[in-house]
Amino acid sequence: MATLKEKRTCGQKCEDFGRFVWNSDTGTLFGRTPEKWVYISLYYVAFYVIMTGLFSLAIWTLMYTLDPYTPDYQDRLKSPGVMVYPPTYVEEDVVLSYNTSDKASQNKMSNYLTAFLKGYNDTVQLSNINCTRGKYFIQDSFDAPRHTKYSCRFDQSMLGNCSGLDDPTFGYNGTMPCVIIKMNRIIRFLPNNGTGVAPHLNCTILSGHRNVDAIEYFPTNATFDLCYYPYYGRLAQPSYVNPLVAVKFHLVNDREAKIQCRVVAHNIAYQDSYEPYQGKVVFQLKALK
Ligand SMILES: *[C@@H]1O[C@H](CO)[C@@H](O)[C@H](O)[C@H]1NC(C)=O
Ligand SMILES: *[C@@H]1O[C@H](CO)[C@@H](O)[C@H](O)[C@H]1NC(C)=O
Ligand SMILES: *[C@@H]1O[C@H](CO)[C@@H](O)[C@H](O)[C@H]1NC(C)=O
Ligand SMILES: *[C@@H]1O[C@H](CO)[C@@H](O)[C@H](O)[C@H]1NC(C)=O
Ligand SMILES: *[C@@H]1O[C@H](CO)[C@@H](O)[C@H](O)[C@H]1NC(C)=O
Ligand SMILES: *[C@@H]1O[C@H](CO)[C@@H](O)[C@H](O)[C@H]1NC(C)=O
Ligand SMILES: *[C@@H]1O[C@H](CO)[C@@H](O)[C@H](O)[C@H]1NC(C)=O
Ligand SMILES: *[C@@H]1O[C@H](CO)[C@@H](O)[C@H](O)[C@H]1NC(C)=O
Repeated sequence: MATLKEKRTCGQKCEDFGRFVWNSDTGTLFGRTPEKWVYISLYYVAFYVIMTGLFSLAIWTLMYTLDPYTPDYQDRLKSPGVMVYPPTYVEEDVVLSYNTSDKASQNKMSNYLTAFLKGYNDTVQLSNINCTRGKYFIQDSFDAPRHTKYSCRFDQSMLGNCSGLDDPTFGYNGTMPCVIIKMNRIIRFLPNNGTGVAPHLNCTILSGHRNVDAIEYFPTNATFDLCYYPYYGRLAQPSYVNPLVAVKFHLVNDREAKIQCRVVAHNIAYQDSYEPYQGKVVFQLKALK
């Protein structure tokens, strides 16, 4: 092979190449007749034009139907879920159990609440606005800086004796523990729409009545003020915080009870057995010795 190749001089090679470029015998240019080249070029031009067109159409359709300020898939669940903090689970149930004579066990509970309330620090909340209470805060335009909407202030101090400010143990150093109840966000949801009444929290004792001496709510009227609704989404309201209601239980006797805290509003469901956290949360509270 090698010897055969060496026999061909450079001149011959150039001649071969020249024939490939323009073969006068067959009238082909680079192996194809000019006519064929025109056809093949037209074919590719048409092919790419169509592909580009389809691609642009797909992107345009996507962009047109996507509004960045609303989620692509709104949860079909139209009634909000309710959560209790600290969220300590034992198997399927929420069990808030702590040992009043064990500092580590108390700290575990209070540290959780301290961390949870970081975003509600009064200093942090200064960047949110003081809203008119008792009314929905409807914002049709993006009036806040950087094309956003305003968010209402919810300060830690609004949780009074459960704010952790006066008592950093949140009552877990004794038999008067605090829990914090939060209702999940649903974009554009208006609780009690049409009534002008704020939804409120109602905690009832399911078992262990004699072990609960009193229930205190903070804010004292136990309401989730209307000004925190509607929520417009993370992009529109980057500094939004969920309103909270804290509940302080005065435990006596056996110091344990099963409690249900329900958010009362005519358009918040709570009886769906397949959605145990819809509109309410059930938990056990135990202060061990
Ligand atoms: C609570 O903590 C104390 C002190 O650490 C301990 O003696 C006691 O057994 C604990 N109680 C329970 C129910 O775990
Ligand atoms: C709130 O934030 C300020 C400033 O960051 C800080 O000094 C203060 O300790 C915080 N308060 C609480 C209760 O965490
Ligand atoms: C916000 O409202 C509260 C209660 O009405 C008032 O005490 C406070 O001074 C207001 N803060 C600002 C910054 O306007
Ligand atoms: C908060 O606790 C103090 C005593 O620790 C009590 O005097 C006060 O009434 C409580 N505040 C509320 C709103 O319950
Ligand atoms: C728990 O701590 C608070 C604040 O530090 C204090 O006022 C209260 O007396 C303590 N309670 C018990 C039972 O130690
Ligand atoms: C709230 O009520 C108004 C009229 O009162 C109605 O137009 C609107 O659709 C309702 N919104 C929701 C989310 O139910
Ligand atoms: C809480 O619910 C119970 C039982 O449904 C009811 O008897 C009570 O009046 C309610 N309390 C409030 C403040 O809504
Ligand atoms: C509930 O209490 C908060 C704080 O004390 C107050 O701003 C709000 O207006 C009250 N809401 C109702 C419906 O009474």
